[in-house]
Amino acid sequence: MSHPSVTHHARFDLRSALDAHPNALELFEQHVNPAFAAVLRTIGFDARYVRGQGAYLFDDRGNRYIDLLGGYAVFAAGRNHPVIRDALKQAMELDLPNLPGVGTWRLPGVLAQELIRRAPRDQRDGTGLDTVFFASGGAEAVDVALKHARAATGRDRFVYCHRSYHGLTLGALSVTGNHEFREGFGTLGPSTEIPFNDPAALERELARGDVAAFIVEPIQGKGVNLPGEDFLRVASDLCRKHGALMILDEIQTGIGRTGAMFAGQHWGMGDAGPRGWCPDIMVIAKALSGGYVPVSAVLVKRAVHQKVFTSMSQCSRIQTTFGMNDLAMAAGLATLHVLEHERLVQNAAEVGDYLRDGLARTLSKYELVKDVRGKGLMIAVEFHKPRSFLLARAWDMLHALDPNLFCQAIILPLMSDHRILAQVAGHRLDVIKFIPPLVLTKADADEVIRAMDTCVGACSSPTGPVWEVSKKLSSAALKRFGKPSSAGQPVSAQS
Ligand SMILES: Cc1ncc(COP(=O)(O)O)c(C=O)c1O
Repeated sequence: MSHPSVTHHARFDLRSALDAHPNALELFEQHVNPAFAAVLRTIGFDARYVRGQGAYLFDDRGNRYIDLLGGYAVFAAGRNHPVIRDALKQAMELDLPNLPGVGTWRLPGVLAQELIRRAPRDQRDGTGLDTVFFASGGAEAVDVALKHARAATGRDRFVYCHRSYHGLTLGALSVTGNHEFREGFGTLGPSTEIPFNDPAALERELARGDVAAFIVEPIQGKGVNLPGEDFLRVASDLCRKHGALMILDEIQTGIGRTGAMFAGQHWGMGDAGPRGWCPDIMVIAKALSGGYVPVSAVLVKRAVHQKVFTSMSQCSRIQTTFGMNDLAMAAGLATLHVLEHERLVQNAAEVGDYLRDGLARTLSKYELVKDVRGKGLMIAVEFHKPRSFLLARAWDMLHALDPNLFCQAIILPLMSDHRILAQVAGHRLDVIKFIPPLVLTKADADEVIRAMDTCVGACSSPTGPVWEVSKKLSSAALKRFGKPSSAGQPVSAQS
């Protein structure tokens, strides 16, 4: 039966459905995740958001928040971008032959071609990342990449880096080097952890001859750790030498975040000459969605692809139902279009430099601040134990209470006093991370720098209100969960 227009059907009124349920947090607490809701209440992240636009969120009182979290890096083009929204409306209004299953349709091929056009080529042998597998989530795409590596090499083991984050499905978890996420889920692997930026450790593992792939983020999301000048190229060369594949996880860093289309390009990816290298598989997701429709893509060298899909009977040995759905493909195409037409990759580079330099300059007067680093709009501020006796004692006390707490002492007032949404960069890290939409302006950056100055300044007195807030947080968590650390974690859980 065809359905020519909505007037022939009972209309679903989304606005009324929302109006009937005004309290998001209570609903969430009842039906989704009570522990997370409790944490949001405890740390004051329980704003009632009603609207998002660009780099901002708005609550029901009309307050504007600068969003330095960006939905964990999915809103590269900004929230609710009109061009992406329009592309999605067009896709719906065209009555496209979505997901024909046993059949093909143009949209996946068009997006694949656009991605391949922007992907690096391996100038060492003229090969490129010429085939694309579409999935929906980041971890799902990582699983697909791992399966490609096993099937293509006939080997089992993976090598991954300490502090890596590749997602939480069982496959991705087995190469995720954050132990808080691994504990309690049984045997993972076979996989081996090495330090990030340690080519000698990588070569030791590769030399055993059983490694299917080395998987690595160009910039680690947890902690915003940058690679050494040569690490990625040397890793790629070592993988080639020992018959293993290199999987580059650009899920968070790709699609413009770091001021280049892909972060590996800062370190010679795709270059000709001695600096040049190229992964065998590259995984992207997050920002490709335009912030609307989940989509991930696994870009694979043709030689690898051919070793996985070896015959007609094996043509669908890796597949997923929704991977190539029209709305995801349209969101991806529209996102690439917006990024280019609005020069957002350049904006990420310019505003990113401006924000990072401004933070470094302004915060250098505080002995608590160890480092300000990053690329483009992926920026971290790292803290360390100060030298002054009283401040050092306050630092030790807080860390003994809970190693996750210190950064909350900055994140919480950033939110409550300055309406700036940010996150801790990982478990047991004294690092705050900013991954805003790439439409962030220099005026926004100025606001962030001023707010950080105030919040870090408040921490720089051992009797300052901020230390009190942390202690309160810890005891609230203790009362609620029986352990102090629970409040610190969810704000840093992803990305
Ligand atoms: C580098 C990286 N890889 C993989 C993932 C997992 O993606 P998803 O949460 O969509 O499964 C993430 C998510 O934060 C990520 O940052």
